[in-house]
Amino acid sequence: MSPAQPQPIVLVTGAARRLGREIALALAAGGWQVAVHYRSSADDAMKTLADCAQLSGDSAAFDADLGDEAAVRGLLPRVIARFGRVDAVVNNASTFEHDSAASFGFAGLDKHLHSNTGAAILLAQALHAHVSARGTSAAVVNLLDQKLWNQNPDFFSYTLSKAALEAAGTMLALALAPQVRVVGVAPGLTLTSHLLSDEQFEARHQLSPLGRSSTAADVASAVKFALENRSLTGTTLLVDGGQHLMKFERDFSLM
Ligand SMILES: NC(=O)c1ccc[n+]([C@@H]2O[C@H](COP(=O)([O-])OP(=O)(O)OC[C@H]3O[C@@H](n4cnc5c(N)ncnc54)[C@H](OP(=O)(O)O)[C@@H]3O)[C@@H](O)[C@H]2O)c1
Repeated sequence: MSPAQPQPIVLVTGAARRLGREIALALAAGGWQVAVHYRSSADDAMKTLADCAQLSGDSAAFDADLGDEAAVRGLLPRVIARFGRVDAVVNNASTFEHDSAASFGFAGLDKHLHSNTGAAILLAQALHAHVSARGTSAAVVNLLDQKLWNQNPDFFSYTLSKAALEAAGTMLALALAPQVRVVGVAPGLTLTSHLLSDEQFEARHQLSPLGRSSTAADVASAVKFALENRSLTGTTLLVDGGQHLMKFERDFSLM
């Protein structure tokens, strides 16, 4: 970046903790000013904000329930009001609740589709309107999941919401070009959950052709690459050690 260029501004959703925090820090370290979105993890969001500001000079945090359409529609204008503009959105926040073909229902489907798919589309829509009015360009990265290429029936509504987001990525890449690029980043098993012991996580993390799935740093660097590579759009980077090439009968947490 030349000194004459202003620092780019990125909104990272779900950036208080876990992968979103790693993405926010990697972008801040690379010179991006980060708008840290969170829902309930306010204390963690303030820590991410402070750490990002330390790295890039400025940061701010914004709360919003991405299941609430009005809150989603209000989010980008709040970021623009604070920073003056936005150059990118990373749709990282995600509802991840278990259901199956047997327990599937509209309530679970709606919850996953609203926060994981609809919110990401609305933020891309708002970003497109913003940069079109300014005559600038922007990028969106949608966090997907290797399990779209390696399906099992667990986390039924979550998987549907990510499959819809992957399809939306293709449609948005076409519809929002040339102002906005849209790229998917699909991690493999990266971080553990309360469903796995440390030993179980390590064993499942090694289940890949490369003998290791993705680390948070791997995913964050792929997001940064996708935001900064000006010829990428309408495609997905699978960052998973090749896990998508294998067949797993169950979700990692339920094997
Ligand atoms: N972790 C992995 O191994 C893995 C593997 C494959 C794909 N991925 C994808 O990578 C992304 C990050 O994964 P992760 O494990 O770090 O995610 P996570 O911890 O499950 O969730 C990230 C954040 O999403 C926010 N969130 C959830 N529902 C929301 C809602 N309705 N409104 C606003 N925020 C909401 C939460 O924010 P608050 O805490 O502030 O409420 C949460 O901290 C996700 O898109 C996931 O699908 C992750």
